[in-house]
Amino acid sequence: MATLEELKAKAVAMLDMAYVPYSHFPVGAALECEDGAVFTGCNIENSSYGLTNCAERTAAFKAVSEGHRRFKRIVIAGRSDDYCYPCGACRQVLYEFGPDMEVICLNKDNEEKRLHIKELLPYGFDQTWLAIDEK
Ligand code: THU
Repeated sequence: MATLEELKAKAVAMLDMAYVPYSHFPVGAALECEDGAVFTGCNIENSSYGLTNCAERTAAFKAVSEGHRRFKRIVIAGRSDDYCYPCGACRQVLYEFGPDMEVICLNKDNEEKRLHIKELLPYGFDQTWLAIDEK
């Protein structure tokens, strides 16, 4: 199991991997799964702006594509004055695999704000709705 300080350091290190020629707004993420595996991510922009992938989803998709579907916590690092909160799309993706996970947002001074995914995504959509017809 990684310590929170280790996860924070990994998320901050990923700021240097961010590909952000358009926004110049790097984001780094370090995702810890329930089994202890850790996956990192950064945002990856594109000249076709809408194809940009956020740091959180880079980490999430790396984890799931390697067989890790239960998320425990994620640290999100940015270089902004305020904490770097996940966008709406990333909240939904994280909720799919971590409905009880912790989300730790950092600001440029590496101060942290610790939140539960359900604070960030109240009334989140999940597969229980899709199963209604099968009951
Ligand atoms: N971004 C992330 O990577 N994660 C977030 O939670 C917020 C936004 C990225 C997308 C884009 O590359 C840049 O930040 C500015 O929106």
